[in-house]
Amino acid sequence: MSHAVLNNGGAAAATSRILLEDAAHAAAALGDAADRLEGATVLVSGGAGFLGAAMVDVLVHLNTHRFKRPARAVVVDNFVTGVPSRLQALATDPNVEMISADISKEIDLKVEFQYAIHAAGIASPIIYRAKPLQTADVNVWGLRRMLELARAQKDLRGFLFFSTSEIYGDPDPAHIPTREDYRGYVSCTGPRACYDESKRFGETLAVVYHQEFGFPIRSVRPFNVYGAGQRIDDGRIIPDLMKAAVANQPLVLLSDGMATRSFCYISDATAGFYRAMLLGKPGEAYNVGNPHEVNIRHVAERMSALSGTPVTFQSSADPHYLTDNPQRRCPDLTKSREHLGYEPSISLDEGLRRTLAWAREVSR
Ligand SMILES: NC(=O)c1ccc[n+]([C@@H]2O[C@H](COP(=O)([O-])OP(=O)(O)OC[C@H]3O[C@@H](n4cnc5c(N)ncnc54)[C@H](O)[C@@H]3O)[C@@H](O)[C@H]2O)c1
Repeated sequence: MSHAVLNNGGAAAATSRILLEDAAHAAAALGDAADRLEGATVLVSGGAGFLGAAMVDVLVHLNTHRFKRPARAVVVDNFVTGVPSRLQALATDPNVEMISADISKEIDLKVEFQYAIHAAGIASPIIYRAKPLQTADVNVWGLRRMLELARAQKDLRGFLFFSTSEIYGDPDPAHIPTREDYRGYVSCTGPRACYDESKRFGETLAVVYHQEFGFPIRSVRPFNVYGAGQRIDDGRIIPDLMKAAVANQPLVLLSDGMATRSFCYISDATAGFYRAMLLGKPGEAYNVGNPHEVNIRHVAERMSALSGTPVTFQSSADPHYLTDNPQRRCPDLTKSREHLGYEPSISLDEGLRRTLAWAREVSR
């Protein structure tokens, strides 16, 4: 791989003990379904990002510990938020290829593959509000490009689109926990619309490709995934808390901390994503998350207990920081349990402990 050296923002290659353990946990949670990937080539857009790199780490783990015929990962990333160093440990791995390209634009890719994962996206609200057009483009044009590349394949077995729980917007409390058939309460013009609405259209495209071309496509709607491997300068809440904890600074909340989220540790989520791609019903969407709903203040207090740094409250200088911010977020996992056998197992405390240990490891 030849890339300019970037500040890695706390992301690190899978030489980290915690990242290796996480890949092993996700692979174990995938069970025998993993064998469908043996000998296959998997195209991963956004593979240098948090979720995409975790998907690649699982393939590398399976190659080392399970497969006789290795799976191959072909990563396409333009490093708008991902970093080359995240996959640096794999630079000499003959089964991982890294292509530096913008998937929203024309791309000449001469690779045959059996699975495609569209994990490219701009997921951090701080960043997507600064880059609204690029955010919409990767969710619509980037997805379309991936779909067309997949349509040209002779033996396409699975396509996974990373949608988001944000497609539910700010749900009516009667729809918490939120099932996949809830239609959402979303602004099409608000400050988050570039992300939420383009993901919604992405899901429409997924369904259309299934209807028109019989595509084996599934969408996943991740609910606040966090953990080792996520850049600590990413601007999302847990990275912000980690960044402060590692620097021995107070844990600053820019709200009253009463909004809720259901945080899902990365290795649980990664197993869910693969289960959706390999076992889900074609054309369907699945919630992937943890059903344990907590308020942000509680998360900051648990983090404070682990790090020994106090929690403080401030207001954001950005007047739109909280505009259209969902008040509650919690997945109903009934469909994912029934169709996919998905079951997260890592508690918030354990996940925060692992994330903090990792953040300290890479900040040394
Ligand atoms: N992490 C979460 O909790 C979460 C929740 C819901 C949805 N998602 C979705 O999952 C996907 C992955 O999220 P993440 O947390 O890993 O984000 P991330 O920012 O860590 O990774 C996204 C990756 O996509 C790359 N990328 C962006 N635009 C691109 C383009 N045009 N061409 C090529 N590469 C491009 C980035 O450089 C980065 O490496 C995104 O689509 C995101 O919207 C994530």
